Amino acid sequence: MKIGIIGCGAIAREIVTRRSDVVALYDIEPDRCRNFDVPCYPSLDEFLSAVDLVVEAASPKAVRDYAMKVIGNGKDMLIMSVGGLVDRDFREELFNLSERNGAKIYIPSGAVGGLDIIRAAKIAGLSRARITTTKNCKTLGVECESRTLVFKGSAEEAIKKFPKSTNVTVLVMIATGLDVEVEVYADPEVHENVHSIYLEGEFGTATIEVRNRPSEMNPKTSYLAALSPVALLDSLESNVRIGA
Ligand SMILES: NC(=O)c1ccc[n+]([C@@H]2O[C@H](COP(=O)([O-])OP(=O)(O)OC[C@H]3O[C@@H](n4cnc5c(N)ncnc54)[C@H](O)[C@@H]3O)[C@@H](O)[C@H]2O)c1
Repeated sequence: MKIGIIGCGAIAREIVTRRSDVVALYDIEPDRCRNFDVPCYPSLDEFLSAVDLVVEAASPKAVRDYAMKVIGNGKDMLIMSVGGLVDRDFREELFNLSERNGAKIYIPSGAVGGLDIIRAAKIAGLSRARITTTKNCKTLGVECESRTLVFKGSAEEAIKKFPKSTNVTVLVMIATGLDVEVEVYADPEVHENVHSIYLEGEFGTATIEVRNRPSEMNPKTSYLAALSPVALLDSLESNVRIGA
């Protein structure tokens, strides 16, 4: 597999460290490629011609700007900035294009777990999904002296308010197909990125809580989220899939 990564940040660092088949990088700020020992391409077209699979690890805007082109060129795409898929029309257009030309879209579990439960439970019907995110005030970019509810509403609204901290709410929305109830708390005492998902359906109920260590390179990003594309890429090559 020839992997190319858009966005030379914390997630790219983890992938490049752990996979030897990353052959190309692209970043809107080319200087950001400097610390990587992988060729950096000056244009998206040149970058695309060098790879089979594109990992987007940049920003929701990068998804909106490049995904149709990547999939249109028949390249598979792994999307980290799930917030870029929040618009239903854009999402359906992209997924339909992928269906038509056979290029695959992969969306890793990122900073949360339970996507396996959602997939199975959905077969019989899911009726409710709630996600509560708690991060340090500084990580969310808000002032607070004690645990404070800073957002309550839908995944669509959450990603607009906290585009770098609530990708998982859009992930759960897309995975469940439900209007997810989202609460975001800022807490000066919390130094992990905590996501708690509650699901209800025909299967019963589930609560999945992940207390994530922030990535050292980018505290908005959880370390687990940076590992999840590596796990997904590894699984594509594996004959035995456990919990997939
Ligand atoms: N799905 C999840 O659970 C999850 C979890 C954490 C982070 N994320 C998302 O993954 C993305 C990457 O995270 P990170 O911590 O590696 O970020 P980072 O800030 O460390 O690095 C992002 C890099 O992308 C580049 N970039 C930004 N916009 C670009 C564009 N339009 N074109 C090309 N390059 C561009 C930046 O210059 C930067 O070098 C972010 O959007 C983040 O919100 C998703």
